[in-house]
Formats: sequence, C-alpha cells, structure tokens
Amino acid sequence: EIEIKIGIFGSGGIGKSTITIRFLKDIFVEDYDPTITDIYIKKNDLNDKKIKFIILDTALQEEHYDPFPNYVRETNIFVLIYSITYKESFEEIKYFDERIKRILDIEDKDYPKILIGNKSDLTMKREVSIKEGKELAKKLNCKFIETSAKTGENINQLFYETILLEIER
Ligand code: GTP
Ligand code: MG
Repeated sequence: EIEIKIGIFGSGGIGKSTITIRFLKDIFVEDYDPTITDIYIKKNDLNDKKIKFIILDTALQEEHYDPFPNYVRETNIFVLIYSITYKESFEEIKYFDERIKRILDIEDKDYPKILIGNKSDLTMKREVSIKEGKELAKKLNCKFIETSAKTGENINQLFYETILLEIER
C-alpha cells in the first residue's frame, strides 16, 4: 500500500474544500464552511497497487494559535492552489512556498509539490493566464495544472500526480 499525506494549501475561497470533496465524492458543492479543517481518507486501486490518500484540507482559523506550521509538518505532498479568477491568490503562492520552506527548515532544497490554478471553468473572470501559471511552476520547480472543481476537469489528474510525487519522494 502506498500512503500519501497530502496538504491542500492556498488563500481563502479559492476552492481547497471543493476540490477535496469533488475528488472524494465526485460532487460539486456550492457552499462549504470555510472554517472547517479536516482530514479525509480515500482508498483507491491503481493497477495492482493500493493507494491510500490522506488529505488535509486546511482553513483559516479564528483560533488563538497559528495552525500553519502543524499543517506543514503533517504533509508529505504539497498541493499549492490559487484561483485563476483571483490574482491575489496567485501572488500569495510565493509566500506559502517561502513559509513552507522556512518551517521545513530547507532553504535551497526542494520539497514535493504541485501548482494548481483552480476555477478554470470561469473563463470570463480569468485574471491569471496559463502562461503565468506555467512560469511560476517553472520557478517553483514543479508541475502545473488548471482544474475545475465545478466541471471536474483535471481533478483526478491532480491526485494522480500526487501518487507520482510520492513514488519519487
Ligand atoms: P477556505 O476554506 O475559506 O480557505 O476556502 P476554500 O479554498 O476551501 O474554498 P471553497 O472550496 O470553500 O470554495 C469557495 C467557493 O468557490 C465555493 O462557493 C465553491 O463552490 C466555489 N468553487 C470552488 N471551486 C470552483 C470551481 O472550480 N469553479 C467554480 N465556478 N467555483 C468553484
Ligand atoms: Mg475550505
């Protein structure tokens, strides 16, 4: 069995929970409680290998401590998500990357990650081009995919990539 501890990171409202639920249940949720942080487990078979996805859906909390360092320590494969409709969430990816590196205490070394541009169905509201996504992924030294939790586009592909990252790790 391959066990993959996946952390879902990104700004508020960009679709972390919706992507997670889409993968787990193959449904689109219009409204999901932004305060919930949860760990989900899904088991799959890929060829003759058993895969266990352990997915940490992070959220901004109103608690008195900052849970971010613990999220990072619980994660082996990092999924960094922005929304293509929200430029600021794209800009924030580099701060997530810097923070993760600081917590993992690796300055120049790399860690297993993938960059995701979500809400690809909202083409009329696009603020971040595919080219910008690709360029950032190149800087971060990782793969890049655009997804839509609404249509389901590339959601399975995203989680398939985490298997490849786990095998390489
Ligand atoms: P926090 O938990 O607050 O950090 O937000 P989140 O990143 O978990 O966002 P969430 O999954 O709650 O999604 C926010 C809103 O965006 C919801 O209304 C979703 O239905 C919507 N949404 C998420 N993904 C997509 C998508 O791919 N396309 C469209 N059109 N809407 C989406
Ligand atoms: Mg959420």
